[in-house]
Amino acid sequence: MSDTILLQAQGLAKTYHLDRVDVPVLDDCSLSVDKGEWLAILGASGSGKSTLLHLLGGLDTADTGSIQIGETSFGGAPPSVLDRIRASRVGFVFQLYHLLPELTVLENAMLPATVPSGVGAVSGRSRAIELLERFGLQDRLHHRPRELSGGERQRTALARALVNDPDVLLADEPTGNLDAKTGEAILDVLADLHRDGLTMVIVTHDHAIARRADRVLTLHGRRLQEVPELS
Ligand SMILES: Nc1ncnc2c1ncn2[C@@H]1O[C@H](COP(=O)(O)OP(=O)(O)OP(=O)(O)O)[C@@H](O)[C@H]1O
Ligand SMILES: [Mg+2]
Repeated sequence: MSDTILLQAQGLAKTYHLDRVDVPVLDDCSLSVDKGEWLAILGASGSGKSTLLHLLGGLDTADTGSIQIGETSFGGAPPSVLDRIRASRVGFVFQLYHLLPELTVLENAMLPATVPSGVGAVSGRSRAIELLERFGLQDRLHHRPRELSGGERQRTALARALVNDPDVLLADEPTGNLDAKTGEAILDVLADLHRDGLTMVIVTHDHAIARRADRVLTLHGRRLQEVPELS
């Protein structure tokens, strides 16, 4: 893999099996993301965006194909290896936040730091506080997720994704459940992180988000395609 490429996926395919029905979702999907690049993947609802992102983040396994992040390859990697990759290399923002309701904002944000290959509780706590302050949540550290607005929950999820200082941020519709103004504010935070050098892959159905990325791929008919110019 070249020095400039951080994440590379080749020939990914995924079919879900429900009872006797096969649901093919991805077929021969390949992509590469350079260090520091912001890639957007645009696709309609049901096109397989979340599925693809879960594969890239090691949250699910592909039927065929390979994924490489830095010098680490994972395809059929055992769960322990995937856990380590997830914790140390990938920051994941889920479509529906997935914050733990019984934990505070700070506890949620520092949670990944405490897994075996995380940065540890002490560093994690100070880094979580730093990120939450940067995202304007300094007055919400000890609140529970239910006491937060959607935008605040999303910023908490973003802090959690970044607490282990990952190589790449994978974000699934990071503004999907927010109103336009709150969504813009999250995008500004993401753009700011990108300016600081963070590599990002964002999946979305929203052209306005995709337009802010360095490069856009579309997911359509189970395949990924380059988009020269967004209208
Ligand atoms: N666990 C699963 N089992 C079976 N089918 C699934 C599963 N997850 C997703 N699917 C199917 O795979 C297809 C792609 O789903 P996916 O969630 O990846 O789409 P998406 O592009 O993220 O959609 P949205 O924009 O609505 O979030 C859909 O047809 C969905 O019904
Ligand atoms: Mg989705």
